[in-house]
Amino acid sequence: MVGENKKTKKQESSQPEINIGLVGHVDHGKTSLLQAISGKWADIHSEEIKRGITIKLGYADATFYKKQGKYNTTEGDEIRKVSFVDAPGHETLMATMLSGAAIMDGALLLIAANETCPQPQTREHLMALEISKIKKIIMIQNKIDLVTKEDALKNYHEIKKFVKGTIAENAPIIPVSAKYTINMHYLIEAIEQEIKTPKRDEKKEPRMYIARSFDINKPGTKIEKIMGGVLGGALVQGKFEVDKEIAIAPGRKVKDIWEPIKAYIKDIRAGGQSLKTAVPGGSLAVLTELDPALVKADQLTGNLVTYPEFIPPIWETITCKIILLDRVVGSKEETKITPIRKGEPLMLSVN
Ligand code: GTP
Ligand code: MG
Repeated sequence: MVGENKKTKKQESSQPEINIGLVGHVDHGKTSLLQAISGKWADIHSEEIKRGITIKLGYADATFYKKQGKYNTTEGDEIRKVSFVDAPGHETLMATMLSGAAIMDGALLLIAANETCPQPQTREHLMALEISKIKKIIMIQNKIDLVTKEDALKNYHEIKKFVKGTIAENAPIIPVSAKYTINMHYLIEAIEQEIKTPKRDEKKEPRMYIARSFDINKPGTKIEKIMGGVLGGALVQGKFEVDKEIAIAPGRKVKDIWEPIKAYIKDIRAGGQSLKTAVPGGSLAVLTELDPALVKADQLTGNLVTYPEFIPPIWETITCKIILLDRVVGSKEETKITPIRKGEPLMLSVN
């Protein structure tokens, strides 16, 4: 009975408050750590299972509790619901990592203790966090089960040296084993101390960034049973309500002009539940009545969702100033950067 009375407002909300990214070099254990925290294996696509690497952004939520002064993910007083975004570490998937960074409030940068630090994407992902202005970072020294205490300490000093002079200079370094779920309570404690829920404004016009968009229908679904396209991402400000009309901008290209796509919100899912209203926080999925063909295969990634009256101006051309780094960050060799040449393709990561 006492337990029932103690139920706080926090416990009633099923929506996670914050989005935390898992980043770092390929195979350093990001997806394994997410499984250790959330119980979910996020590499679900056939190509990911076949190749044993993360290819698309992965998502899972966890709830942190505290019991007898120790954090855990199953019992005690509820502290916070958290969403995680699992980024791929493979060097060819940097664009995917960056689209995930657009919705991260903070990040865990994983480093395998049994390899020298830094590896190429350890460096590249830290730079991506810096560029995306993600300042709340925790360094995770993973796979400590594979090394001796001496080697773990040696690796610790390498990490310290690597972060010196970067935004992660004062970030805590937490030794863990994702595989054997060692030190998870220290990891959660560090998250609670370092990656606090940012202040968000529910009263502003809604703004959601799409990190992925997809068709949830299985092949062969009968036409009357087809569900509309789903938008996944995070609401950074404002509120969304079921049955309201939304606009996705810039939308789609119709005869050389970008046209916002309008749709109605049919359902909102977050924290494993269906919501009538979504507020800013962790990952959420918005179910629409849009033709899944307009949405499938992440084609709306990078778009913004708001109410139709708040669509920002859509620019057809932009002028930008280019600042080149001195050296190539994500390669094994120390390669000098050459100036950008005419005809060279550039990829822009907006947001
Ligand atoms: P990408 O997403 O492809 O960049 O890889 P990842 O960082 O998600 O690594 P993943 O979790 O897929 O793990 C890669 C390999 O390392 C798997 O074989 C895991 O079982 C193993 N691994 C992960 N964490 C640990 C750990 O703490 N100890 C040991 N011994 N192995 C681990
Ligand atoms: Mg992975």
